Amino acid sequence: MQNIQPVIDSIYDIMQSRLGEGKVADYIPELAKIDPKQFGMAVTTVEGETFVAGNAQTQFSIQSISKVFMLTLALGKTGESVWKRVGREPSGSAFNSIVQLERESGIPRNPFVNAGAIVVTDMVLAGHQPREAIGELLRFIRYLADDETISIDNKVAQSEQATGYRNFALANFMRSFGNLHHPVEHTLGVYFHQCAISMNCVQLARAGLFLANRGRNPITGHSVVSDRRARRINALMLTCGHYDGSGDFAYHVGLPGKSGVGGGILVVAPGKASVAVWSPGLNEVGNSALGSEALEMLANEMGWSVFGA
Ligand code: DON
Repeated sequence: MQNIQPVIDSIYDIMQSRLGEGKVADYIPELAKIDPKQFGMAVTTVEGETFVAGNAQTQFSIQSISKVFMLTLALGKTGESVWKRVGREPSGSAFNSIVQLERESGIPRNPFVNAGAIVVTDMVLAGHQPREAIGELLRFIRYLADDETISIDNKVAQSEQATGYRNFALANFMRSFGNLHHPVEHTLGVYFHQCAISMNCVQLARAGLFLANRGRNPITGHSVVSDRRARRINALMLTCGHYDGSGDFAYHVGLPGKSGVGGGILVVAPGKASVAVWSPGLNEVGNSALGSEALEMLANEMGWSVFGA
């Protein structure tokens, strides 16, 4: 395998002169305060080595990347019956779109658009108090990353709780179709807190490593999911992980990935590595602008792609 450190060092150098490109998410007031001129990257290989560049140790709000971990929990709890309440098709619309929901009777297109993620959270909430459900997810992420310091930024959670009108609309709409089983305030309470989990690139790359290694974390030896389930989660990340930008991301990067409006992206290079990149400025579809480009450079340089050897 090509030496990774010089590759990410040179990507970081290129990005230095472009810091601040894109637009920081401002519909969550607390995220609007983040300095856009930051860029970090961490690559953890399946051999257990980690390579970093830039602000790889700076905490950021993982936002929608949390949906991958919540889906993994829901699949563990309820297995394939998850798919009775949420689909597996790319949406072709924005992450917070409501239009398809009406036409499709309250069954969201996939688990990564907001509506789908809210349903997945509702599944994990079954039999629990909201506090227990968010505790379960946080413990799971700490276990995956092997890092007990990972925590929730309550300011971000409260900021979204106070302004998340669209998510309240989506959740109420699904409740009217019977596809939300708990009070809207409970499910969204968990959802806003999962999105407000704070991590850095190193922690995130470690947490995603099981997806690059057939469901097993090669550093801790923990078996997290089956090989088949890891493949399927990767398939969903590839087809739906970047919303209406998923096709473009597959074309340019060629690897499964999940973005968040905090500017983070988690990418899986099966059999090779887990990669986390963070830069807060977003492109027009709500994915990190510099982050997406950095991942394209990395995949090209390393020759990593799920579409060819
Ligand atoms: O629900 C929301 O709008 C945010 N908490 C998460 C959205 C998000 O990260 C979309 N990703 N690019």
